[in-house]
Amino acid sequence: MCGIVGIVSKTPYPSRVLLDRLKRLEYRGYDSYGLYDGRTLLRRIGGIRVEGGGRTTAGIAHTRWATHGGVSERNAHPHLSCDGRVAVVHNGIIENYEELRRGLLRKGHRFTSETDSEVIAHHLEDGLRRRPVEAALPRLFRELKGTFAVLAMVRGRDEIFALKRDSPLVLGAAEGRTILASDIYAFSDWTDRAVFFENDEMAAVGPSGARFFDATGRPIRKPARTFRWEQDRGPRRTAGHYMLKEILEEPAAVGRLLFSLGGDQKPAFDRLVRLIRRTRKVIFASCGTSYHATLLGAYYLHRTGREVQTLIASEFRHFAKVDAETLVVAVSQSGETMDVIDALKYARANGGRIAAIVNVPHSTIQRMSELSLNILAGPEVCVASTKAFVNQAVLLLALARAFGFPVRLETIPDRLRALFRQRARLRAMAVRIARSRDVYIIGRGLTYPVARETALKIKETSYIHAEGMMGGELKHGTIALIEKGTPVLSLINAGDPDIISNTKEVEARGAEIFVLTNHPTLGGDRNAVHLKTANDGKFGILAAAAGQLIAYYAAAALGRPIDKPRNLAKSVTVK
Ligand code: M6R
Repeated sequence: MCGIVGIVSKTPYPSRVLLDRLKRLEYRGYDSYGLYDGRTLLRRIGGIRVEGGGRTTAGIAHTRWATHGGVSERNAHPHLSCDGRVAVVHNGIIENYEELRRGLLRKGHRFTSETDSEVIAHHLEDGLRRRPVEAALPRLFRELKGTFAVLAMVRGRDEIFALKRDSPLVLGAAEGRTILASDIYAFSDWTDRAVFFENDEMAAVGPSGARFFDATGRPIRKPARTFRWEQDRGPRRTAGHYMLKEILEEPAAVGRLLFSLGGDQKPAFDRLVRLIRRTRKVIFASCGTSYHATLLGAYYLHRTGREVQTLIASEFRHFAKVDAETLVVAVSQSGETMDVIDALKYARANGGRIAAIVNVPHSTIQRMSELSLNILAGPEVCVASTKAFVNQAVLLLALARAFGFPVRLETIPDRLRALFRQRARLRAMAVRIARSRDVYIIGRGLTYPVARETALKIKETSYIHAEGMMGGELKHGTIALIEKGTPVLSLINAGDPDIISNTKEVEARGAEIFVLTNHPTLGGDRNAVHLKTANDGKFGILAAAAGQLIAYYAAAALGRPIDKPRNLAKSVTVK
């Protein structure tokens, strides 16, 4: 949440390049944005407009997801200290900001925003009154409590100072330029060489390169690593939306993942299989869409006789008992979700082992894990996760196959393409669903996680109230909400007669029924889409992709800001 960027160059560059790079991180938050280039302070509300005429050799920029203080220009970053000597951008939460603020107010500092972040600029200015920046930064490290990735500029120095604790920060080494950012997508088209900051590390980045230090100011060595970040070719955006573009990329992304699971990722994949086989208890930890993928994964593995548990990461420590015989598998698109990181810390503290399944290479969660696999979905820009979900589910299905789940994974890309040819029918369904304020999505067994995921996609992109639930649970309460015309989307796996009964029960009470099925006869109806697969493992994945398209078309029918839904951010780096 919040994206930060800093660029230092040997030769002057247009300041608007900072905004251009920041725009690539806009999915991290889009309440307000700003930049400081040593001369100009720009702060604006809303989506980033790449503008401005100045030039600089060093500048910092920020895109905000508001936590402390409302959405306003004065709460937008960068924040300047009283005398303008220090400018900072910050991602994270300073937990002791009120205490620090009180101390600084007593010393005569005046604050202009309601944010926790502004305290950093004043604290640094205060430190600089008595000591050089090299000593003021360790003091800042010592006194700040909470999570932070901070970039600071100090008047008279042609460097950017970077500090990191728990919030993501990475340095990209490009030709003639060094870029500091919240994630590699800010510069992945400039360079594939990056240095990943660990906790309590800092750097001074100048025109001739970067120097790294620990939190006490002692120099450390941090070599650059090469990263691989798959780009899909094809139209940059489809119908103006990344969401549709990314859904349509799914066949290519699945193909790439399957190829790598049989190739360069095979040793890691085999190690994960061995680890799961040897470990007494396996628990997945994840949030949101990734959690729904793990529910599906847990179902697949249960079918092979392998019992695994899955927990939403924010509740992990309240429900998981971890010991030395526990393997925790973190599943995360961004690899930066704070609740997942927290669950892993808890697992580690209790002696558990940690593996990870991530999309963003070298992300924090990957670096915390002794073993990791990459889903290779490539950059996902739309805040609503689509192709990452599909690749997570495919990877988990591949894992289940290694334990005996019968499935031919190789046909998934073609099955997805066949589904996409039915877009018009899915769109017609979506347009009708979009007329309602509520929709219920029901599933059973493997379609239960898909029902939950479809509901989440509909909620976040169209703002329609959507509940994804177990068909069997309906008559324990929710059926009271069914009225004449209430849309119910039923996910009917051919082998499951019970979900057909649940569908009949709501139909009898006036619900308008929509169906996604692989049942040979049910799919003919005007309100039904037939998904061509006899394999229920694959049916789960195809139904989820169909649900994504329904969510997309419902949001489009309602004219919603599909790629950047209100109040959301793609990478949730606060708890
Ligand atoms: O990066 P992660 O997979 O850890 O993110 C988890 C959730 O924040 C994420 O899936 C979220 O629910 C998406 N907006 C869903 O589309």
